[in-house]
Formats: sequence, structure tokens, C-alpha cells
Amino acid sequence: MSDPMTVLVTGASGFVGAEVTARLTAAGHTVLALLHRNGDLVRNNGRRLTPGPGSLTRLTGDITHPGLALTGADRRLAATADRIVHCAAVTDFGLPQDRYDRINVEGTRNLLALALANRTPLVHVSTAYVSGERDGTAREDELDLGQRPGNGYEKSKLAGETLVRKAAADGLPVTVVRPTIVTGATRTGRVRDLKTIYPVLRVLTRGLVRTVPGHHDAVLDLVPVDRVADLVTEAATRFQDAEGHTLHAVGHELTLRDMSDVLAEYPSLQVPRFVPPSAFSASALPDRERPYYDRVVSLYAPYFRRRVHFDDTHAAAFSRRPAPSRGRPYLRRLLDHCLATGYLGPAPRKEPAAARHDGSTHR
Ligand SMILES: NC(=O)c1ccc[n+]([C@@H]2O[C@H](COP(=O)([O-])OP(=O)(O)OC[C@H]3O[C@@H](n4cnc5c(N)ncnc54)[C@H](OP(=O)(O)O)[C@@H]3O)[C@@H](O)[C@H]2O)c1
Repeated sequence: MSDPMTVLVTGASGFVGAEVTARLTAAGHTVLALLHRNGDLVRNNGRRLTPGPGSLTRLTGDITHPGLALTGADRRLAATADRIVHCAAVTDFGLPQDRYDRINVEGTRNLLALALANRTPLVHVSTAYVSGERDGTAREDELDLGQRPGNGYEKSKLAGETLVRKAAADGLPVTVVRPTIVTGATRTGRVRDLKTIYPVLRVLTRGLVRTVPGHHDAVLDLVPVDRVADLVTEAATRFQDAEGHTLHAVGHELTLRDMSDVLAEYPSLQVPRFVPPSAFSASALPDRERPYYDRVVSLYAPYFRRRVHFDDTHAAAFSRRPAPSRGRPYLRRLLDHCLATGYLGPAPRKEPAAARHDGSTHR
């Protein structure tokens, strides 16, 4: 275990931030949890976070303001941090660009000013999808290659990470962790926040949109939230080994063909038809499907196009954790959990394992 430290965690109530906060306090560190509107710290398993043996101090702030809008005593406390872990962001898709810019770009700028003022080592949580609309292998040391971002969120995360790189060039000790698509727990599939890919799965598996633009060999990389939180926490506690690196927090790769095959194993779930994006027209969808496409599925369209693989050479060398397996068994765990909670409708009757396409068991 590393010596006890004080860590300022922004976005501590978030999906990733709460798990990072739990790990840091469990390892005996003091967390200064920057809370914004939501003051509840709830873990991915649904339980309220009980800190310990380390301690937790709540600070109320807003990263869109200089000094994070911290008041005098809290500002002095924040200045005592040995590390900063920056998880705060707006992560929903389909919002106006100025919202992303204010929180993910200007918020990061304000956070960097605080870190630079105290030269506090920073673990910045970005996204692997700063790589934008591209196919092929995206590497950890690449950033701005002139790529086109897939949406406003990705654009703002690219701009935020560019600011972080500039601060690093100005002498701030920095590590960047880039998760892919953060999803349920490795072993159980359990998930606290049904966002990102989950609403899409719900709309598609209920047959609310039946035709979707996407390549059968497009790749979704789904990373369990525990895997992300482990890597972010380790980057903070073993900072000297991670400093100066960008670490891809990758998970289970899943092609759209894998997804279709796994969905077909569940009699209660509909399987969408993926058609080449060049052959798709949203205006040709039936009237009843169109609103679901526009409000939910279209926001995810770039993810159904990209044949991208995220190289994680630095992350693997740093964490020495085994690489995750292929995506099919993991997708089944996610679906089983969503069915058990009623999110995707009632649970199907179990089929014998031998009936499954690849012979693996359900759990
Ligand atoms: N989830 C994913 O699939 C995914 C994938 C790749 C990368 N990431 C990155 O991972 C990080 C954590 O994501 P997440 O899924 O944990 O996000 P999340 O659940 O949406 O949590 C975001 C956190 O940021 C806080 N926040 C928002 N605006 C703020 C402001 N103005 N001032 C201070 N705090 C503010 C929120 O607090 P309030 O709710 O109180 O506003 C919340 O605690 C983000 O940087 C995200 O870009 C996430």
C-alpha cells in the first residue's frame, strides 16, 4: 500500500468517481470529494459509500467557475491535496455544444489552474473516443491528428485533453486515463447508471427501432466500471509509475455481429437489422420508429460505424492486469442483469448452455 495521501476527486458522486473514491478511502487515503449538485455518494452496487479506513471530506464546488467556486476554508483544504483525480464532466450525448464546452473544456481549464498553482499531480479522466471518427488502431500517445470528433461530447473531451497536455508541457505532472464505454461490473454486470449504451440497447431490443445504420464489423469496446476505477485509482496511488503516460482503460471488444448473435439467443429480445450507413435513410423509417431513432439511436450512430481498436500497451505494462476476454460472455452478463432488473423486460427462460452459439455458459 502507498503512504496515505490526500486526493481531491472531482465528479466524486459520478459513476466512475464514486468507485474511485471508495477505492481510495478503502486503501487508507483521505478523499476531498468535490460535489456539485448531487451530494449522494452511491457505489455501483447501489449501496451508500462508507469511507474507511481512510476519510472523506465533502467540498461543494463548480468546476465552471475559477477556483472551482470553493469558499475560503475549502479552497485552503483543496490546496493541501497530494493528487487530483479529475472525473467531473458532462457525459450525456445530444446536448448543446456550449454545455460541453463550459464543463468539459472551461471546467478542465479551471481545474488545471488550481493544479498548476499548487503543482499538484493530476490524473485526468478523458475518453478513448478522443480518437474521433476513424478506423484502425488508436494509440495512447496519439491525440490531435486532425480527426473529426463523432459528436460534441468527443469534441469537448479532445479540447479538454489538449489543455491537459499543454499544462504537462508547462511542467504539471500529469497522467491521462482514457476509458472506452463504461458499463456494468465485471462479474455481475450490475450497473448503477443506465446511460450511454443502455438506452440504445433498450430501444433496439424492444423493437422500437428495427433498422440501424452500422457495419457488422464495427467494434464497441465495453469496459466494466470496476476495471476503470481500478486503473484510475492505481494511476493516482502509483503516480510515479504512470506520470507522463496516457493509459487506455479498455474492456471487452464486441462487433455488431457479436451483438446481433448474442441478442438472438434471447427469445424475449428483438434483434435490429444493421445496414450499411450509406444505404440508410432516417426519413425512410416508419413514423413510430423515427422519434426513438432521433432521440436515442442516432446519438450513438458514430459508435456503430467505427472499426477501431484501442491499443493499451502503456496501460497493460502499468497495471499488469490480464487483458479482458472477448465481448460475448460479458454482453450476456450485462443483458442478464438488465433483464433481472426489468430494464429490458422480463427475464427469458434459460436455455441449455449447449444451445448457445459459442458453447459458453450464461454467467
Ligand atoms: N461513462 C462513460 O461511459 C465514460 C466513457 C469514457 C470516459 N468517461 C469519462 O469518465 C469521467 C467520469 O464519467 P462518469 O460516467 O462517472 O460521469 P457521470 O456519472 O456523468 O458523473 C459526472 C460527475 O461530474 C460532476 N459534475 C458535472 N458538472 C459539474 C460541475 N460544473 N462542477 C463540478 N462537478 C460537476 C457531476 O456532479 P453533479 O451530478 O452533481 O452535477 C458528476 O459527479 C468523465 O470525465 C467522462 O468523460 C466516461
